Amino acid sequence: MTGTRGPAGGGNGAGGRRDAEALKRRIRELAEERDAVIISHYYCVPDVHDVADFVGDSLGLSQEARRSPRAVVVFCGVHFMAETASVLCPDKTVLLANPDAGCPMADMITPEALRRRKEELPGVPVLTYVNSSAAVKALSDLCCTSANVTAVMRSLEGDRVLMTPDRNLALRTQSLVPEKEILLWPGFCPTHHRLNLAEVRKLKEEHPGALVLAHPECQPKILAEADVVGSTSGIIKTCLESDREEFVILTEEGVIYPLRRQRPDRAFLTPATPMVCPNMKKNSLEDVLHALETLTPVIKVPEEIRVPALRAVERMLAVPRD
Ligand code: 13P
Ligand code: SF4
Repeated sequence: MTGTRGPAGGGNGAGGRRDAEALKRRIRELAEERDAVIISHYYCVPDVHDVADFVGDSLGLSQEARRSPRAVVVFCGVHFMAETASVLCPDKTVLLANPDAGCPMADMITPEALRRRKEELPGVPVLTYVNSSAAVKALSDLCCTSANVTAVMRSLEGDRVLMTPDRNLALRTQSLVPEKEILLWPGFCPTHHRLNLAEVRKLKEEHPGALVLAHPECQPKILAEADVVGSTSGIIKTCLESDREEFVILTEEGVIYPLRRQRPDRAFLTPATPMVCPNMKKNSLEDVLHALETLTPVIKVPEEIRVPALRAVERMLAVPRD
């Protein structure tokens, strides 16, 4: 496991923390009773990292949901991630801790809009970022995450590929795989897209020795400032392996918690305007407890969508990570 057990991150005063610690103990007991695995994306709050069996990136979470022998998967993330777990594990009960946690980027493409675009592009394969609904995946030839996108792109036959829904990730992939013509979809992640170039340049000026790491959901002008572009797990791994003292982190601030815990001697610097995904932050300890107590809310992808979506996801999982 990537592992994030340890001291809690937030702080509501001593009484609040005691309550939080009691809640965490109850969650862990109940997870055992329910035969449940709790998995959390890095962008969730530190308290949720603390109770998770596994904390990871989008690709790692899908793989862990499938690998776990547990009957119940409590997903702390956003809706499309729990759907992916349901696609991969139809025999498990998949719960999304907070059912209101959606992804605005995933909502920027609908099955109807993709169907119309495919009619305009007969024979052109569709590569879809996992940040999409299962219904959109079902209409796609192959899926990718930010951790495997270039290898997946290269595995596709043909010169032209429609890549959905993240335009920034597609532009980045185009620069790395110039032999393909990548057709874009106008989607983006609000949390990464709004990052301000002047703030990034200021951080770099103030910390000239820092290694700058960015997520490919950022705009090309931001990525041009970075030393390393990678998925959340790629960013964390690079920081932990580096001998630099300072790091500028240009992704959602949830990655800072595991970084500071594992390297308290290093400085992890973030832009002046915090990069926060409000949807990931919706998953609370109370939600995790409620999911375990009630075994709801269940996320279950219907078979007519699950089977074609599984084909696209499995083709992705067969490609080694970049
Ligand atoms: P990764 O964890 O795959 O890097 O994705 C980031 C993200 O935006 C998840 O929604
Ligand atoms: Fe969606 Fe962006 Fe939040 Fe990821 S960080 S869940 S892409 S809004």
